[in-house]
Amino acid sequence: MPNSPIILAGKAVAEAVKEGLKDRIATLNQHGIIPGLTVILVGEDPGSQSYVRSKERQSGKLGFKSEVIRLAAETSEAEVLALVEQLNQDESIHGILVQLPLPKHIDSQKVIETISSSKDVDGFHPVSMGKLVLGLEGFVPCTPAGIVEMIKYYGIETRGKHLVVIGRSNIVGKPMANLMLQKSEHANCTVTLCHTATPDMSLYTKMADILVVAAGVPQYVGPDMVKEGAVVIDVGINRIEDPETEKGYRIVGDVDYEAVVAKTSAITPVPGGVGLMTVAMLLSNTVKSAENSLK
Ligand code: GUN
Repeated sequence: MPNSPIILAGKAVAEAVKEGLKDRIATLNQHGIIPGLTVILVGEDPGSQSYVRSKERQSGKLGFKSEVIRLAAETSEAEVLALVEQLNQDESIHGILVQLPLPKHIDSQKVIETISSSKDVDGFHPVSMGKLVLGLEGFVPCTPAGIVEMIKYYGIETRGKHLVVIGRSNIVGKPMANLMLQKSEHANCTVTLCHTATPDMSLYTKMADILVVAAGVPQYVGPDMVKEGAVVIDVGINRIEDPETEKGYRIVGDVDYEAVVAKTSAITPVPGGVGLMTVAMLLSNTVKSAENSLK
């Protein structure tokens, strides 16, 4: 009988990360600094709203000065840019996050590039991305950073392993691939990045020791795509209709968990996996930014 897979529980890791921030926040407080995080939400996307509520609640619990600025979907690009400029000047704010996706009439890249790179707690600014590629210290995007924390926490060996990522987004796929190829502890992988133009996806995924799935397609990865004993990390959060539930829908990942779990050595559940890490790493990046402001 093979060993049963390790279920990589985001809650335990996220709690450990937040616990580790408490002393650092206390030290900042002794210097008269309260970590300040401002989130801008434009429009009413339900997924974004619940994500932003979670950021608000959790940053409040850690004693942050946190604020969510909710703007109507019709807000102009110029208004959003002016708000970001104003927050850039405010010394009590260490992190600025503009929730994505933005309405179509607003150029997301322009907004991201307007955020001061010293307050870029999302790690999406070209300066942060450039530092990541070069292996320099900077803000790492929260979801990939959270996955690395999970890998560390559960002692998953990465050196020399083949890590395959599905999805080339700027938020997950590209930073994840770049992080894991660095010559550092908890990385040092051979990395393959697959995407929508990859002709035979399973050819690559079946070679993965560690498979990170950020495809944005519900239950995309089935057992025929996974090598026996692989570590499977599912970044997907998808609502699918389910008339048997009270809400009429349920949340599934990009991996067909029930069909794949027995083949893995470790796997993240959805919900309860990677999703819980993203906010924890946002808080961590905000504390780092507040510490930088002391230097
Ligand atoms: N939308 C989905 N994930 C994220 C994230 O990590 N940051 C922002 N700003 N928007 C998102």
